[in-house]
Order: sequence, then structure tokens, then C-alpha cells
Amino acid sequence: MMDHFVIEGGIPLSGTIACSGAKNSALPLMAAALLTEGVTVLNNIPDLQDIRTMAMVLRVIGADVRFDNGRLTIDCSHCNFWEAPYELVRKMRASFYVLGPLIARFRQAKVSLPGGCALGPRPVDLHLKAMEQLGCDISIEDGYAIATVEKLIGTHIHLDIPSVGATGNIMMTASLAEGKTVIDNAACEPDIVDLADMLKAMGANIEGAGTRYVEINGVKGLHPVEWTVIPDRIEAGTYLIAAAATSGTLTLTHCRTDHIGALLNKLGKTGVDVDSNLDSVSIDATDRKLKALDITTEVYPGFPTDLQAPWTVMMCMAVGDSIIKETIYPERFTHVQELLRLGTRITKKLNSICIEGVDRLKGASIMCSDIRAGAAMVVAGLVADGQSKILRIYHMDRGYEGMEEKLSSLGANIRRVSE
Ligand code: EPU
Repeated sequence: MMDHFVIEGGIPLSGTIACSGAKNSALPLMAAALLTEGVTVLNNIPDLQDIRTMAMVLRVIGADVRFDNGRLTIDCSHCNFWEAPYELVRKMRASFYVLGPLIARFRQAKVSLPGGCALGPRPVDLHLKAMEQLGCDISIEDGYAIATVEKLIGTHIHLDIPSVGATGNIMMTASLAEGKTVIDNAACEPDIVDLADMLKAMGANIEGAGTRYVEINGVKGLHPVEWTVIPDRIEAGTYLIAAAATSGTLTLTHCRTDHIGALLNKLGKTGVDVDSNLDSVSIDATDRKLKALDITTEVYPGFPTDLQAPWTVMMCMAVGDSIIKETIYPERFTHVQELLRLGTRITKKLNSICIEGVDRLKGASIMCSDIRAGAAMVVAGLVADGQSKILRIYHMDRGYEGMEEKLSSLGANIRRVSE
């Protein structure tokens, strides 16, 4: 069944919504449950397809996973299998997060390599190299990474790129290795801090998470905990951009504004009024034209690549020209071709796009190619005059909890049609 959204655009958003739990924190936390032989409880889990996919991955490994109203219970006492199959990994790359925990727990793992992706090349070489440095033998067979190790021994790991996934996998494995592991040029994303904090509550010894230099002293064992996932900064950013692009107002509650500092700063510079507290923020973009503003995507705390596509739509509605430079995924511009169908003026050059602001967009049928490009399609539909049909919204169900309910409560005219 392929659902689509029908949006009657041109209505400024207005109202208050609560942020959901962060998908990109929840997924590694679920994998971390494999490091214990007990029952992990995770709260503030968003009801998303990606969470269900990770639950399936854990079930294949032998975990008993239950989801009830934002609360996930993961019983890993009977896990007896160390494989993550292609059928699941190809649906969601984050399945690769089980590599580290499987190696730590079973001293062996067989995890499918993720393969292609709409964002452009997304290799996992840094994950594999790090596991080798920790003592694993790695081979590639039938599209699977196969790891075996007798004894995991702490080491110094320099990451050529501060990869979020590699940093997370290393922290999980090194927590149960012998001795000290150092990650230099580690990712600093809030999801990494959330994972480190949960691992520490489980008994791990980790220092420096959230900085470029993380030190992990291996421990003998970890115990299960109950943990609450941090708010989703990308979901928060998406709705703030949607409200600004529609010349609307929005109050977000249950968020962490210190995680979206780069976005709030940029929003302010486009002429949007921003009023923030630590866990809530209100913006007002009514009765004004937005100023065009250049952005460059960067690792945290810079402007996130996951908000680049929605930001593109907002800049289409601004006065003047702006440039977006993508430094994390140089080919992450699949949204551009779709946006051109609405009357936008965007040209692409290498890893940048140049956007010429226009007075209005006209609704059309457009397709989602990944979660965040899809978010841009929805924002475009909300902005464009007349009706837009947003196709392939299974991408939205992967990453945005209750999207049409949240947008409807802000006055948007959006409905889901099941084909
Ligand atoms: N990279 C390598 N080799 C590796 C790993 C990464 O070359 O072994 C490169 C990637 O190709 C990319 C850069 O390093 O150019 C950064 O990738 P990173 O590993 O940090 O990304 P990730 O962990 O695979 C997470 C999010 C993405 C988000 C990126 C960047 C999760 C589950 N996914 O991916 O989120 O775009 O960080 O911030 O946390 C999304 O939610 O829609 C999404 C794609």
C-alpha cells in the first residue's frame, strides 16, 4: 500500500506542538540494549517505521521487543544469533548499529552491508576499520561484513571523518573491550551524548562524549537500565522551517533548543522573531518577507545536513538569492528536481545550489526520495498555492511521528490518502 498526502497549500501555520523523541538517538540506544543480558526500557520512543525496523533486527537476534505508547521494552536475555540480514539493513542503514554490540557480546557478527542510498555514497569503511583496530578479523562475503575476535583490546582510533555511526559503534564495542580506547575526531552530535550517557548509566566508563576526543575504559560487564530518549532536533527544525516558510507562527514544546542553536540563529537572521527557553521555542514570521541567507551544512554544532532540504524550500520564498553548500553529503540534492516542478528557481553546481527567491510556488505532484527530502516536499506543499500531492510518503512514516496530525493541529489542510 502506497499512501500519499494531499495538501491544499498557502495557509500560514499557527499553534503549538510537542516534539517527539529523537529517531537518531532511539536507534543506537535500541542497539545498545544488546550489550546486556536483561531488560532495557526506553521511554519517549517515537512511533516510526524505522523504530519498527530496528525492533525486527533485534528480534532476529533473539530479543523480545515490545512497544507500548512510547515505551519500548527490550529483553535481551535470550539473544543467541549474531546476524543482521540484508532484507532489514537495506530498508534502514541504521541497522548497522548492531555491529558493535554484536561483536562485544558474541565476539562475532555477520551484518549486511547497507548498499546504495538516495543521499549519495554512504560507506561504512570507518566502522569496519575501527573494529579491526579493536582486534577483529573482518571479511566481506556475499555482501555481508563478517567479524570475529578472540579478545577486544582498547586502542587509539583516529576517525578521518567524524562519523556519527562509527563513533556510536566504537563506543559500544570499546565499553566491553580490555583497557582504554581513544576516539579522536569523534562525532559530537547530541545523539552520541545520549548514547554515552545511557552506556554510562549501564556501567560503562566513557569520558568526553560531545567533544572531539572520547576516552572509553573497558569494563567487565554492563547492566540494563531504563532511559528516556532526547527530543528530536531534526523534527523540531523541520516544523520551525515549515512555520517560517508559510509566514506563520509556531510554539514547540518538549524540545532542546540548545540542540538547534545553529538553526535558530539562522532563522533570526532571515527576519523571523525567535523567543526561546531551554525546552521550548516560539517563532513568528507573520506579515514579512524573509531575507535570503546562505548556509553551509556542517557537523554538529553546525547547520545540520538533515535540515538542508527543508531550508531550501524556505529560501525559495525569501527575497533575493542564496547559496546552500552541502559538506556532509555532496550529492544530497534529490529534492531540487522535484521542487523545480512547483516553479522554484534553483541551479546546482558541484556540492552547492543557488536559489533565486520567487513570489509564489504552484502546487503539483511531487515525490519523496528520502526522509528529509520528503520533509522538503511537505513544506513545499504547505507553501504552494493550490493542491499538491506528495507521493512515496512511506519515507515520512520512517522519520516523522504523526506528521499529518501535527500539521493539521497547526491549521494545515493535509490529508492522507491510501491507494
Ligand atoms: N562516512 C564514511 N565512512 C563511514 C561512515 C561515514 O565515509 O564509515 C561518511 C558518510 O558518507 C558521510 C559522512 O561520513 O559523508 C558522515 O556520515 P555519518 O556516519 O556521520 O552519518 P550516519 O551515522 O550514517 C547519521 C544520521 C543521518 C544524518 C547523518 C549526518 C542516524 C541513524 N542517521 O547518519 O540521518 O544525515 O548522521 O548527520 O543517526 C536521517 O535521519 O534522515 C539521516 C539520514
